[in-house]
Order: sequence, then structure tokens, then C-alpha cells
Amino acid sequence: MLDKLSSYPKVIVELGMGDGRLLESLAERDASSLYVGIELDKEQCAQARARISLANVEIMSGSFEAVVQTFPDGSVDRFIAVLPDPAFIDEKRESRWKPFYKTVHAKLKPGGTLQIVAEITDELLQPVGDESYARWAAWLESSLLSIGFTLKSRREGAPAQYSSRCLDQFSGDPERIRMTTLELAK
Ligand SMILES: C[S@@+](CC[C@H](N)C(=O)[O-])C[C@H]1O[C@@H](n2cnc3c(N)ncnc32)[C@H](O)[C@@H]1O
Repeated sequence: MLDKLSSYPKVIVELGMGDGRLLESLAERDASSLYVGIELDKEQCAQARARISLANVEIMSGSFEAVVQTFPDGSVDRFIAVLPDPAFIDEKRESRWKPFYKTVHAKLKPGGTLQIVAEITDELLQPVGDESYARWAAWLESSLLSIGFTLKSRREGAPAQYSSRCLDQFSGDPERIRMTTLELAK
């Protein structure tokens, strides 16, 4: 697998790819790049492997913390994280997850990018007000910038062309589950 990283001009890595449907749709449209999906859940990996038969897709089963560590520094063009588990995005656990995104930063090529689509919900499952949303989105941005990323853009919502199991579920409740998309560069 590590040999493959250097045999494609571009390498895109999806962290926590779930059933891999987003990875598959991106890889289909970009046959000259390598798409690597990492997922902890063995059942979802098995589903993805059974469904996806594209030569430019690699599915890696395991923790992305362990797998990403094995990539050479400066070897990845783009990381994508769509709706990471709270352990890797939650405000209360910032000190726990920050070191992982530092590693992600180190693995990017110069000018490489990290795209994060994250969501905020209210603890009582009430609609998320504009003030709460703005405060949270600004906090998330500043936390990631403090690692060394630069901001390319921050937009409310998920990219319109993206479909994943969780995105498709969450987008049905846009007042109680508000999302932001951050585009960050090394
Ligand atoms: C909220 S789901 C989002 C899945 C997918 N991105 C989507 O949008 O449908 C988070 C995913 O991250 C996976 N995950 C959580 N921790 C992980 C880790 N340390 N390494 C790899 N995958 C992880 C979970 O198994 C789960 O599939």
C-alpha cells in the first residue's frame, strides 16, 4: 500500500469513510488519483470492499490514528473527514484530538489540504441558534488554525455534491443539526 502512495500523482485519504460511498463517487470521477479510505468498523470495510471495484481505491481497516502514522511525511495531497466521531472533533475533547490533526498536517504535501465537514447539535436537541452556530464554527476554525493550517474557506452546510450515510441522514434535520465545511491548507 505504501508503494502505491508514490505511484499516483495525487493521493486523497478519507478518515472514517463509513461505508465508503463518498470515497467511491469521488474516485469514479478522478481515475488518475489514488483514493484511500480508512475505517475502524470491520463490517463497513467489508461492505465497501465488496461493492467498490475501482483500481484507484484502497480500503484500510483500522484506526486512522494508527494508519496515518505509517504514511511518509509530505505524502498526501488531501485529507477528507466527513462528520468525524465526537472523539475527533468535540470541543470538550480538543486536547485529546489535536495531536492527531497535527499528524495529518505533517503527512500533507506542501499546499495539501484538509477538508472537514462537522456538525453541531443542541444538548437538548433544540434548533441550534445563529449565535451558538457562529461561536462554535469560529472556535473550530481557530482550533485547527492553531495547529498550523491556513484557512481557504469556511461555509455553512456540507458540499452540495457530497452524499454519505450520515450526511444523508443529518441533512433531513437542518435546524437541529447544523454543519460547517472547513477547507484548510498546509
Ligand atoms: C459519524 S460516522 C461518519 C461516517 C461517514 N464519514 C459518513 O459521513 O457517513 C464516523 C465514522 O468514523 C469511524 N471511526 C471512528 N473512529 C475512528 C478511528 N479512530 N479510525 C477510523 N475510523 C473511525 C466510525 O466507525 C464511523 O464509521
